[in-house]
Amino acid sequence: MRILITGSAGFIGFHVAEKLLKKGTKVYGIDSINNYYDVSLKKSRLSILKKYKNFTFVKIKLENEKKLLKYAIKFKPQIIIHLAAQAGVRNSIKNPDVYFNSNILGTFNILKIANKIKTKHLLIGSSSSVYGANKKFPFQEIDKTDHQVSFYAATKKSTESLAHSFSSLWKLPITMLRFFTVYGPYGRPDMAYFIFTKKILAGKTIKVFNKGKMYRDYTYIDDIVDGILKLLNKVPSLNSKKKYKNDSLSPVAPFRILNIGNTKKIFLLNFINTLKNELKKNLKTKYLPMQKGDVHSTLSDSSLLKKITGYNPKTNYKVGIKKFLKWYLSYYK
Ligand SMILES: NC(=O)c1ccc[n+]([C@@H]2O[C@H](COP(=O)([O-])OP(=O)(O)OC[C@H]3O[C@@H](n4cnc5c(N)ncnc54)[C@H](O)[C@@H]3O)[C@@H](O)[C@H]2O)c1
Repeated sequence: MRILITGSAGFIGFHVAEKLLKKGTKVYGIDSINNYYDVSLKKSRLSILKKYKNFTFVKIKLENEKKLLKYAIKFKPQIIIHLAAQAGVRNSIKNPDVYFNSNILGTFNILKIANKIKTKHLLIGSSSSVYGANKKFPFQEIDKTDHQVSFYAATKKSTESLAHSFSSLWKLPITMLRFFTVYGPYGRPDMAYFIFTKKILAGKTIKVFNKGKMYRDYTYIDDIVDGILKLLNKVPSLNSKKKYKNDSLSPVAPFRILNIGNTKKIFLLNFINTLKNELKKNLKTKYLPMQKGDVHSTLSDSSLLKKITGYNPKTNYKVGIKKFLKWYLSYYK
């Protein structure tokens, strides 16, 4: 089995790649290694992957269609897991262009290439942020997603539409993966839990938005990886005899959207207090109003994923935080 992973120097791409490499799968990684956050963290992730003989890496930007195609034709992956993207809600308000290029143009290029080399299954990272201002919890894949509140979320929703059109026109099998606030070792330094940890350790004040009155479906990285791996062979098909209740399978394309979350609501203040208690430090907080672009709360209904794959997220947030901090303290000494 040959799998191409875009964004393999990124948080989720790295963990998916490592798990597959351990199983002996041939993994081809690509990433631009951009400097949105600490490049040395991306290089550390890559140095772990490069220890595996079955790993090949090329530095490519998604925008470079020619180079991407050359690489894809050379390796002919049966599966593509597309996880390279410009992430981050806040930054997308200030720098929308990079989101447009990486997420919309970049995914468009991946779709064209997957179609040219006739990939058996293309899996694309989307986000819970596409549910935007929705008020019906938990979020289900069949819910309407018409009201994104950040440009980042809008680019993610756009990739879902682009992917559906390709899948419909060319019968390209595609699964969209809507991740819910992913955290864990080798995580993203721009994310709130990472910033909180750094500040609590330094005795600095942390900014808590909307007075902490919001919750997130924090999902530990191992559960995300497990969900993705379980889906690799669950290729959406229009001829499938199996019918699932509330299925998001398109009626006209081998295309399905799936939530991958922990399915528990964790209030922000509980998350922060667990971090503080584990670090045995004092907490200094500054309460601020809701930030532009942020969604109020997220909660995943992952029952469709469970029915299709047996997915069962195992990591309670307190256990996940302990594992994250163990890594953080040893990595940053
Ligand atoms: N981490 C989360 O909580 C979360 C939640 C929802 C959705 N997602 C989505 O999951 C995917 C992976 O996110 P992540 O958390 O691993 O982010 P990440 O930033 O750690 O990884 C993304 C990688 O893509 C690379 N990249 C960015 N633009 C590129 C381009 N134009 N060409 C080539 N490489 C490029 C970056 O260098 C980075 O290494 C993304 O699609 C993201 O939107 C993540």
